[in-house]
Amino acid sequence: MTHELTDVRLASPSSNATGRPAGWWRDAVIYQVYVRSFADGDGDGVGDLRGVRERLPHLARLGVDAVWLTPFYVSPQADGGYDVADYRAVDPLFGDLADAAGLVAAAHGLGLRVIVDVVPNHTSDRHPWFLAARAGRPGCPDRARYHFRPGRGADGALPPNDWESVFGGPAWTRLPDGEWYLHLFAPEQPDLNWAHPEVPEEFADILRFWLDLGVDGFRVDVAHGMVKPPGLPDVGAAEQATLIGSQPLPFFDQDGVHEIHRSWRRLLDSYGGERIGVAEAWAPTSERLARYVRPDELHQAFNFRFLNCPWDAARMREVIDESLAATTAVGAPTTWVLSNHDVVRHRTRYGSGPQGLCRARAAALLMLALPGSAYLYQGEELGLPEVTDLPDALRQDPAFRRGGGRGAAGGGRTDAPSEAAGQEGLRDGCRVPIPWDGARAPYGFGSAGAWLPQPAGWAGLTVAAQTGDPHSTLELYRAALELRRVLPGLGAGDGVEWLPAPAGVLAFARPGFVCTVNTLGRPVELPVPGRPVLSSGPVGPEGPMVQIPADSCTWWAI
Ligand code: GLC
Repeated sequence: MTHELTDVRLASPSSNATGRPAGWWRDAVIYQVYVRSFADGDGDGVGDLRGVRERLPHLARLGVDAVWLTPFYVSPQADGGYDVADYRAVDPLFGDLADAAGLVAAAHGLGLRVIVDVVPNHTSDRHPWFLAARAGRPGCPDRARYHFRPGRGADGALPPNDWESVFGGPAWTRLPDGEWYLHLFAPEQPDLNWAHPEVPEEFADILRFWLDLGVDGFRVDVAHGMVKPPGLPDVGAAEQATLIGSQPLPFFDQDGVHEIHRSWRRLLDSYGGERIGVAEAWAPTSERLARYVRPDELHQAFNFRFLNCPWDAARMREVIDESLAATTAVGAPTTWVLSNHDVVRHRTRYGSGPQGLCRARAAALLMLALPGSAYLYQGEELGLPEVTDLPDALRQDPAFRRGGGRGAAGGGRTDAPSEAAGQEGLRDGCRVPIPWDGARAPYGFGSAGAWLPQPAGWAGLTVAAQTGDPHSTLELYRAALELRRVLPGLGAGDGVEWLPAPAGVLAFARPGFVCTVNTLGRPVELPVPGRPVLSSGPVGPEGPMVQIPADSCTWWAI
């Protein structure tokens, strides 16, 4: 048995064994679409909203609950659209507002919710507010919406403080008139001053604009960054991007950000239909991260600790326990995520070649067995590896350029093992366009080429090639998501019961269900925990004992 379904009892997908308040997002599987790399509907080599709409049936068939779309707003694309020049308009590269409305309606028609990105920490340097600020003088009111400061040193030639950009280099750029402005990311992404009353007002209006258009929520970019402490104190350490997520930093996770999230929660709740906010937040501890999902704040926060965890049973168990404890303490669901558009794909992080793929498939089943909500990144359902040999001239990630061609420590913030070494911080390799069908590039991505070249060997990885193959990663994901809807012990809930297991093996129970994960590079024998319903690798014949293959995860009904 590799991953065929066996008979399982039907239950309501929203059944809630814990008696917690229902909420679609508590156990939703949400699929991240990196728009420029998903599907090209107009033949210019860049993915767009029309392309996403045409490919929605793939997502419906996969069995996800919602789609998160990365920024498609008007932008000079200095950071893949995370540099927004007009928050209420679609960049012509991706379509227009009618395409956005049509996509939301089509997704709803297929039972899929739609979450869009909002980027409140910074604007583009081409945003009308920053153009006015740049054209103004030191001290003028237009500069008050950003963080402008005089420099240090006798002639002000030194940056105002020692903050470093997440992408490398100083977080400050000097204008010809001598003033410096703050950008925690690229110089084309000036940080907004949220203490200026027009900034929160403007963003409340932007949220309403998209909620009125029908979106079901927002992924809040850099949700931990909007508030800076008075006086902008020095960090006092170098390589600051490497400290993100483990050390307190003056420019991130300030208590004041929570007031903003509270006001956004009130706004979301003023709309019907359970609209949600999910924080992309980096905080030094799980407890600090859980503050973003207190009952009057956002609904979810990405759990990057799980993403960063190496393929090691003891470490994974620690992260799972810590994550569940922290969110349970505030009544929120935990989220699980293995890959996104900022990190080396997990198939490559876990090791190159077949071992990486085995582990990636197993990790996906583990993630989908845990209580809470799971985020999938486009292409992981195909088992796509990181593309590690892109020519430098084609790379577009600003982290690559600012990191001196090596990427930036914070650009691909992962604890990557040696197989992925050299790719951390290089974010183009996980953004290569999706292969849909056909024997050669662009594999059905669009009628022209693809904005980043796809490898020659991807014919066997296309959606078409994997469909119907019971051993394929795509069919494994489809089977897992289908089971997640029908097995009552999967999805909602907030705890797991750990079962005794040999070192290197994880075993936990949930109501009516057991999950086993063998992280070792060799098979192990276990007492049969139940009836196998899905496995990422072939489980041995059952007796009183059963052999579990190396680097695999198995779901058991009990
Ligand atoms: C977030 C995004 C990343 C972007 C950065 C700046 O971390 O995920 O892609 O570069 O914010 O907006």
